[in-house]
Amino acid sequence: MSKSYNIAVVPGDGTGPEVIGEGVKVLSTVSRKIDFKLNFTYFNIGGEHYKATGEILPDSVVEGLSKSDAIYLGAIGHPDVQPGILEKGILLNLRFHFDQYINLRPVKLYEGVSTPIKDKGPDDIDFVVVRENTEGLYAGAGGILKKGKPDEVAVQESINTRKGVERCIRYAFEYCRKRNKKKKLTLCGKTNVLTFAFDLWERTFNEVAKEYPDISTDYAHVDAICMWMIKNPEWFDVIVTDNMFGDIITDLAAMIQGGMGIAAGGNINPVGISMFEPIGGSAPKYTGQNIINPIAGILAGALMLDTLGEEMAALCIENAVKKVLKDDVKDVSAGKMGFTTTEVGDLICKYIEKDE
Ligand code: IPM
Ligand code: MN
Repeated sequence: MSKSYNIAVVPGDGTGPEVIGEGVKVLSTVSRKIDFKLNFTYFNIGGEHYKATGEILPDSVVEGLSKSDAIYLGAIGHPDVQPGILEKGILLNLRFHFDQYINLRPVKLYEGVSTPIKDKGPDDIDFVVVRENTEGLYAGAGGILKKGKPDEVAVQESINTRKGVERCIRYAFEYCRKRNKKKKLTLCGKTNVLTFAFDLWERTFNEVAKEYPDISTDYAHVDAICMWMIKNPEWFDVIVTDNMFGDIITDLAAMIQGGMGIAAGGNINPVGISMFEPIGGSAPKYTGQNIINPIAGILAGALMLDTLGEEMAALCIENAVKKVLKDDVKDVSAGKMGFTTTEVGDLICKYIEKDE
């Protein structure tokens, strides 16, 4: 009997629904081809729903998502809603609730996609960032005293637990081994200034490294990583880092792989329910025009299948994406692809069907 998976779909805001629509089309095509079943259940949350009802993340939705094997998310964020409400109330809440302690962000420059880095090509840009996803500055520790007064105080603390740091670092070593490329893991930190948090990270990293003699290790400060990522991206294989640094360096990394139209990520709980999303956001100015690039969302779908254990299907999607990028799509930016959003989805489906 073929396998069957329950996928919770959260199309969300802005261009999220358009991107996720193409993703679902591609996932359905590949599931028919490889012979497994995907049952999609839709959940309506996001900025529009919040504006209409005042609800951010109702318990009934969390309960529904809990019954899924994975969550497939478009984008959360609305220009009319104060920053932080939806991001913290939905995205971060889900990451924390499902203990998705890894944010996995592959960075790969595909053939046919242009990078802003001179003289670098697909052979040079192929690495993965493993970002801790439940702690650090995102934990929400701190507060404001005397708000609005001249002697106001704001404190925002970075929380780093041995357990949280160790499980993230272990995941990165395991991932690096399984990836089996350069077999090099780089810790990205700031040991020269953040001498508490990154002392814990560095000690844990060095201890865990002893269990992985086949993986070479390296360390770079976060500011230097930003420099090396542009100057010598070929140095990297897997990078592991905390939540805040990971957030920042993966936007930089997304640009060198061609931009937000391509960048996908997974919020992963290796023993629970993971959530996959294009990392670009809701792009409100392109909403409803059928011009947004769906490839980041489609690659997020591939990452989801890979994590669910359907590696062949994931590879099949990636191959079709590679072909579209090499032969068809002129530019990965919204409105410049030479094709509409739905046409790009259709082309990818066509290549999946033809694939041997
Ligand atoms: C990301 C986003 C989120 C983050 C925001 C929207 C809360 O930037 O997924 O990288 O900071 O993690
Ligand atoms: Mn970000």
